[in-house]
Amino acid sequence: MKYRGAVVFLSGVVAALAVGWYLFPLALYRTEAQPLGFDHGLHTGDQVGITCDMCHEFAPDGRFKGIPAVAKCAECHATAIGSTADEKRLVEEYITPNREIPWKVYSRQPDNAFFSHATHVMQGKVECPVCHGSHGSDSTLRPYQVNRISGYSRDVWGPNISGIPSEPWQGMKMDRCVRCHEERDRVDGCVACHK
Ligand code: HEC
Ligand code: HEC
Ligand code: HEC
Ligand code: HEC
Ligand code: HEC
Repeated sequence: MKYRGAVVFLSGVVAALAVGWYLFPLALYRTEAQPLGFDHGLHTGDQVGITCDMCHEFAPDGRFKGIPAVAKCAECHATAIGSTADEKRLVEEYITPNREIPWKVYSRQPDNAFFSHATHVMQGKVECPVCHGSHGSDSTLRPYQVNRISGYSRDVWGPNISGIPSEPWQGMKMDRCVRCHEERDRVDGCVACHK
C-alpha cells in the first residue's frame, strides 16, 4: 500500500487535466453552424480554377472587400450548375431572393483592434496562408466557435486551449501581431492597432 498516496495523487492530476483540456473548452465555447457549406478547394482547384482575388477583392480605394457578396456567386450560379443540396439552397434561399449569406468570420477581431489587409497583403506582401493556413484550399468549413465569456471567435485565441499553437498560423492574439512586427523591425505604438 506504499504507493497508494501516489496513485490517488496521480489520478487527481489526470482528472484535473481531463477537465482542463476537454471539459473546460466544451463549456467555454459555443458552436454555431455556418449558414451554408462552401468548398474553397473546388473553386480554387483545377475544376473551377478561380483565384482568390476574383472573390476577395480590394476596392479601388484600397479597402479589402472581405467575403464576396452573393452577387459574385450569381455570376456563375444564377441557376444551379450541379445537383448538390448546398448549391440548391444557395440558389433558392440566397441568389433568387437576392439575400446576403450571413457567413460567420472565423478570424474576426474585437472592435477595438484595427487591421488592414491592404497594408499586409499589398504593401507588406504577406501571403494569405501565413495568417489563414489552408482555408483557401479546404473543402469543408470548420465549425465556428464563440467564446461564451468574451464573445470572440475561437480563432483569436487558437484551437489549443493552452494558447500555444501547433501550427504557425493558429491564433491571432495581440502577441502574435506584435511578434511578427518585431521580426520585421516594426515598433508600433498602442494606437496603431487600437484606434
Ligand atoms: C468563389 C469565391 C471564392 C474564392 C475564389 C475564394 N474564396 Fe475565400 N471565401 C469565400 C466565401 C464565400 C467565404 C465565406 C465562407 C468561408 O469562411 O469559407 C470565404 C472565406 C474565406 C476566408 C475566411 C475568413 C474568416 O476568417 O472567416 C479566408 C481566409 C479565405 N476565404 C481565403 C481565400 C483564399 C486564400 C483564396 C484563394 C486560394 C480564396 N479564399 C478564394 C469565397 C471565395
Ligand atoms: C467562376 C464561377 C463560379 C463562381 C463565381 C462561384 N462558383 Fe460555386 N461552383 C462553380 C462550379 C463550376 C461548381 C461545380 C458545379 C458542379 O459540378 O457541381 C460550383 C459548385 C458550387 C457548390 C456546390 C458544391 C458543393 O460542395 O456543394 C456550391 C455550394 C457553390 N459552388 C457555392 C458558391 C458560392 C457561395 C459562391 C459565391 C461566394 C460561388 N459558388 C461562386 C463555379 C462558381
Ligand atoms: C497578416 C495576417 C493576414 C494576412 C496576410 C491575410 N489576412 Fe485575412 N484576416 C486577417 C485578420 C486579422 C482578419 C480579421 C480582421 C478583422 O476582424 O478586422 C482577417 C479577415 C479576413 C476575411 C474575413 C472578412 C473580413 O471582413 O475581413 C477574409 C475573407 C480574409 N481575411 C481573406 C484573406 C485573403 C484572401 C488573404 C490573402 C490575399 C488574407 N486574408 C491575408 C489576417 C490576415
Ligand atoms: C506575418 C506578419 C504579420 C502579422 C501576423 C501581423 N502583421 Fe501587421 N504588419 C506586418 C507588416 C509586414 C507590416 C508593414 C507593411 C508595410 O507597410 O509594408 C504591418 C503593418 C501593420 C500596421 C501599420 C500600418 C497601418 O495599416 O496603419 C498595423 C496597424 C498592423 N500591421 C496591425 C496588425 C494587427 C492588428 C495584427 C494582428 C491581428 C497584425 N498586424 C499582424 C506584418 C504582420
Ligand atoms: C500590432 C498590433 C497591436 C499593438 C501594437 C497593440 N495591440 Fe493590443 N491588441 C491587439 C489585438 C489584435 C488585440 C485583440 C486580440 C487579443 O485579445 O489578444 C489586442 C487586445 C488588447 C487588449 C485586450 C482587449 C480585449 O478586448 O481583449 C488590451 C488591454 C490591449 N490590447 C492593450 C494594448 C496596449 C496597452 C498596447 C500598447 C502597449 C497595445 N495593446 C498594442 C493588437 C495590438
